[in-house]
Amino acid sequence: MEVNRKKRYYLKMKEVGLNWRITRIGNLKKERVKLKYVVSNTYDQMSLKAAKYVADAIKAKPGIVLGLPTGGTPIGMYKELVRMHKEEGLDFSQVKTFNLDEYLGLAGDHNQSYRYFMKSNLFSQVNIQERNINFLSGIASDPIAECKRYEEAIVAAGGIDLMILGIGVNGHIGFNEPAKELKANSHLIDLAQSTIDANARFFDNKEEVPTRAITMGVGSILRCKEIILLASGKSKEDAIDGTTNGVVTTDLPASLLQLHSDVTLFLDDEAAAKVDR
Ligand code: GLP
Repeated sequence: MEVNRKKRYYLKMKEVGLNWRITRIGNLKKERVKLKYVVSNTYDQMSLKAAKYVADAIKAKPGIVLGLPTGGTPIGMYKELVRMHKEEGLDFSQVKTFNLDEYLGLAGDHNQSYRYFMKSNLFSQVNIQERNINFLSGIASDPIAECKRYEEAIVAAGGIDLMILGIGVNGHIGFNEPAKELKANSHLIDLAQSTIDANARFFDNKEEVPTRAITMGVGSILRCKEIILLASGKSKEDAIDGTTNGVVTTDLPASLLQLHSDVTLFLDDEAAAKVDR
């Protein structure tokens, strides 16, 4: 009886053309309730699962627009994507990319620039076309104009389909550091001391670590159609706790991801230790 009533209701709605909208709203509601989790025992397993997810997205949409992170965490995922390209023919020929951020003052050929990182870990090893690679330039003469150019380029590409993020120990995403106020669009930023300290491991000496960067804003990130975030190790457990505990605060920029309707976290057990799933 109940079933019949529901069926009649939906048929009626279909007649008046409301069927699609009801289904759509239903889906959105479902997506909004919860962040999605893929938790692995080890860093290597997490990297493989994230790579498979990205590869499937590329296969589903060969001209996909990807947002890309740097840092130690995504290296395993990039390695697996390179293997999939070499051994399984994963095709990057139509893929477009926008990297999240760049150190201010470092040219693309500096061995600690993020552009150099991406070239060595991914771009030089797959068949991506140079003209499809986008970066904020760390040496633009007018960084403000450079940020504007970048936002416009993202729009011209049709927006970012899949943003891949790492996370800082203090909960930063891209280089959006904890602060009283966050910037929505791409902008210049002074790095937090904890970020400078964390990134010092990649430089020969501390004095060389850049103290400023140019980064997509939290709005640039939240406008992406889908977001995945990778985190591994105990040093990230508090940042992941703050990303998932239901509280949104600019003190932990990744917590704003809870406002997005399609976010999946790829974590290892250590990073997921405090998550209430
Ligand atoms: C840098 C990058 C971030 C990255 C973070 C974490 O600060 N700007 O995009 O997520 O490092 O790095 P790691 O993965 O090495 O911990």
